[in-house]
Amino acid sequence: MTTTLLVTGAGGVGKTTIAAAMAVHSARLGLRTLVVTVDPARRLATALGLDTLGTEPQPHTEEPLLWAAMLDAGASWKAVAKRHADPDVAERLANNEFFIAASQHFPASQSYAAADSAVTFVQAKAWDVVVVDTPPSGGGIDFFTAPSEMADLVGGRLLRWITGGPIPGRRLFYDRAARPMLRVAGSILGSDLLERVSEFLLDLRTTYDGVSRRGREMERVMSQAATVVVTTADPAPVQEAVRFYRELPAVASTPAAVIFNRALPDIWIEASTPDGSSPELRQLVEWWSLEAQRQHDVRREFSSRHGANVVTVPWSPTPLTDLDRLAALVGRDADLPWESLGIGPDSVST
Ligand SMILES: Nc1ncnc2c1ncn2[C@@H]1O[C@H](COP(=O)(O)OP(=O)(O)OP(=O)(O)O)[C@@H](O)[C@H]1O
Ligand SMILES: [Mg+2]
Repeated sequence: MTTTLLVTGAGGVGKTTIAAAMAVHSARLGLRTLVVTVDPARRLATALGLDTLGTEPQPHTEEPLLWAAMLDAGASWKAVAKRHADPDVAERLANNEFFIAASQHFPASQSYAAADSAVTFVQAKAWDVVVVDTPPSGGGIDFFTAPSEMADLVGGRLLRWITGGPIPGRRLFYDRAARPMLRVAGSILGSDLLERVSEFLLDLRTTYDGVSRRGREMERVMSQAATVVVTTADPAPVQEAVRFYRELPAVASTPAAVIFNRALPDIWIEASTPDGSSPELRQLVEWWSLEAQRQHDVRREFSSRHGANVVTVPWSPTPLTDLDRLAALVGRDADLPWESLGIGPDSVST
């Protein structure tokens, strides 16, 4: 049984870092662990101290049970077409400019491609733990809603209306009647634009059954996955975290924890300066103490309001680019609910 952990949260809060850190921790417990990201900034590679990161999981050179992969959203869409369409249709789709544009601009496209690949890795049963660093596009929640959005896109009413009916008959009708008409329209417009659009729509439509079946599979895997929400104590990401607590239970599991990352330790609340300190130093310490108190209050409020399991990960003054520092970030002091995430010594398969 593969444990799946989805790390979500607003942009820039430290999702990739935390996903990498949790994966290192998991591997060091003896669990075969894969960490997956779609972060085009290659931050996962940096965080893991790797030069490159490919779309196929690769073993980490320094950590025997750790694998990592960085998904390419465009390439994954091609894989989606390959999986759900006849080979010639898949080939046509992959080269169709509208398919390429849709894979780049459909709001949930990155999320869909990421979710699809992540689910493939989970189903491969090659790892004990798959940690997925969800993409921040669309506020992150669309990673979870992407399967049904994709099914809506491919099987949507407009598309059904344009391309509906039994596909083979439609294709014949299209070839005999619509194509010549479109050619005329195209010649007026000075291009074969319309023909390319309807060819794309028809081809896309043939993937519907596969996509909707796959969507249900993806939703099942996601509903069984554990989720954690990463945030900082700043108002905007906290708002996002609240949204995850409200919306995730409908599409996935209730978050197992909210991780307040880059936190100032509580010890700062009581910080004081020795007698004789300069006024500048006294003021600085006072500011940091107030900030630590503010962060503490935000966490307490979050916990009491949303019944959340609040965990803090301290702000690290040193760059987080080696495995030991990463592992230490979520180690003993952070108090993550490892057992309920399915990442504990007991989860090691024999
Ligand atoms: N606990 C921490 N202490 C100090 N720096 C941190 C900590 N966590 C993350 N960072 C730094 O914050 C920056 C953003 O982190 P990261 O890339 O993990 O965020 P993200 O949520 O994945 O961002 P995006 O939404 O853009 O993908 C990075 O430079 C990372 O090294
Ligand atoms: Mg990231």
